[in-house]
Amino acid sequence: MAFTGKRILLGVSGGIAAYKAAELARRLVSGGAAVKVVMTRAAQEFVTPLTFQALTGEEVATTMFGPGSEPLEHVALGQKVDALVLAPATANLLGKMAAGIGDDLLTTILLAATKPILVCPAMNCEMWANPAVQENVARLRDRGLTVLQPEAGELACGAVGYGRLPEPETILEALAKLVTPQDLAGRRILVTAGPTHEDMDPVRFLTNRSSGKQGYALAKVAWRRGAEVCLISGPSHLPAPQGVERLEVRSAREMLDAVLARFPQTEALLMAAAVGDYHPTSRAEHKIKRGSQELTVHLTQNPDILKEVAALKKRQVVVGFAAETRDLEATARRKLEDKGLDLIVANQVNRPDSGFAVDTNEVAIIGRKNLLVRLPLLSKEEVAAKVLDQVVALLPTRQGGKSA
Ligand code: PMT
Repeated sequence: MAFTGKRILLGVSGGIAAYKAAELARRLVSGGAAVKVVMTRAAQEFVTPLTFQALTGEEVATTMFGPGSEPLEHVALGQKVDALVLAPATANLLGKMAAGIGDDLLTTILLAATKPILVCPAMNCEMWANPAVQENVARLRDRGLTVLQPEAGELACGAVGYGRLPEPETILEALAKLVTPQDLAGRRILVTAGPTHEDMDPVRFLTNRSSGKQGYALAKVAWRRGAEVCLISGPSHLPAPQGVERLEVRSAREMLDAVLARFPQTEALLMAAAVGDYHPTSRAEHKIKRGSQELTVHLTQNPDILKEVAALKKRQVVVGFAAETRDLEATARRKLEDKGLDLIVANQVNRPDSGFAVDTNEVAIIGRKNLLVRLPLLSKEEVAAKVLDQVVALLPTRQGGKSA
């Protein structure tokens, strides 16, 4: 989980979206975080501190003075967490932050904070468009704070426009990036994912059981660790991961063209796609009609994308995946040699909780010089993190810098 062992301060200011912060607190806790909530006086008009206390198991901080407040809390709280997230951040809060005002517990904590701050504005669309608010947002961004763009839609006041609090998923991803070490900062990573579709006629195609989950997890985790990620995806129902450029392809030939076009600018290629090995030799112009008892379809071999691309490699790290039902490690090692790879990730695909279309995977990472890392059954994001650890170790050192 992205937040295991992390301490997060959730600052809630007074807008109608304050009720959505309760769901955010819940998701953070279920993602492994310890969450300390700080509410402004106005936020308590919309939601009670008790709601957050019940969800986080921690006392909610609301005031600098009086019963329940601790001396120096206003300094300590923003320093002993891993990150701060403000959701919702009202126009008033943005203004105070931009002007350096600390006139209550939350704004004072923000003045003394030394950890990354994620700002999630939510307000009426006219307020958001107000030049004063936009100037405040620009000032906060200039100072290095991450300010999310509010989402468009119908607002509580009935107006339609930009002003909605971003979805919890968007906030959580942005926050995960802020608490993750940036060991792939600025690295250009190319990932392939999903199946290919090889057309037989206008309505039928050959494909396989890949959902894209493993490749999408790689793209997501690489972005979290600071990489610029391009994801070349075969047909998949998954949404594009945040911050990632997604190129959609259908066939192995289209995937080859896309990979060849991007490979020269790439520092590491991870081919998690299940590329079809064959395509129908001819594609019927019209739907093939039901006719005789048997139908013979001739197949022609597709290009081996990895093999072609690995032959062009200069300093890039090239990683393949092997989906096997038997002799897993030996077969994967043969593919590593045959395709000229740096690493291969061998998946168990003959058990129900590993491989195709599930959220978990059991893999062994195999590399040159007898590298063999056997992993237990993990979530696909955890597998992605382990694979990327190996990629980081292989990436050539940048001139004038460290390897990461
Ligand atoms: O998408 P999910 O549902 O999450 O499932 C994940 C997965 C099981 C598909 C994934 O983890 C995986 O194993 N992907 C590779 C599957 C595969 O095609 O294995 P392979 O042994 O047939 O191919 C070996 C490698 O060569 C792969 O990296 C593949 O992308 C590549 N290849 C294969 C054929 C081809 N014509 N060109 C290729 O580049």
